[in-house]
Amino acid sequence: MVEIAPSILSADFTRLGEQIAAVERAGASYIHVDVMDGHFVPNLTVGPFIVEWMRRATKLPIDAHLMIEEPDDFIGAFAKSGANMISVHPETTYHLHRTINYIRQSGCQAGVVLNPATPLAMIEEVLAEVDYVLLMSVNPGFGGQKFIPSSFDKLRRLRELIRSRGARARIEIDGGIGLDNIADVVRAGAEILVAGSAIFGASDPAESLQKLLRAASIESSGAAMV
Ligand code: DX5
Ligand code: ZN
Repeated sequence: MVEIAPSILSADFTRLGEQIAAVERAGASYIHVDVMDGHFVPNLTVGPFIVEWMRRATKLPIDAHLMIEEPDDFIGAFAKSGANMISVHPETTYHLHRTINYIRQSGCQAGVVLNPATPLAMIEEVLAEVDYVLLMSVNPGFGGQKFIPSSFDKLRRLRELIRSRGARARIEIDGGIGLDNIADVVRAGAEILVAGSAIFGASDPAESLQKLLRAASIESSGAAMV
């Protein structure tokens, strides 16, 4: 089943609760929150404090994408604030296996994230331990960037790697997803689709989400695209 995770990075933060409620009603499966530290990525965003407020605004699972150095220091705080899924980039931690264990011990689903230039080999040894792999289809740091086309091939290779290992990890994709490519990424193996600007950059986020969901579901059910 294809699921959409709207990224609040492109939301109107003066009306964050309202915007989260609108996409929840429209059929979102998760709320994706991008946590940036100004070191690992060249931007600063939000911490556990905002996740705590998000928790009050939605019943949906909160998907925290950590783009921060030394994520171990914050995993407990994000879990306590109400995050349900926490993903980390392998470059940010010396002991990825241990970090994944911390995430799971904190009661959250654990994910690992691959930057466009990070090879699949970086996560091979922990594939059996994670609930999902997040494939970046842009360089992390900002919303509204253009999808990197080589991500299609990487998606297919990731799907094959997961299949060949008999792993249960789901595939999430993040960056530059919109109506023009959502069907293709689903066809290539993506199961959880993050979209920021395509949803919150539009005048009606709920309507945009429904259009994305329709385009993605048509593809996953195998019917012809309209
Ligand atoms: C980028 C973030 C994304 C971002 C996606 O570092 O990880 O989640 O919000 O935004 P769009 O969908 O606009 O590319
Ligand atoms: Zn993200």
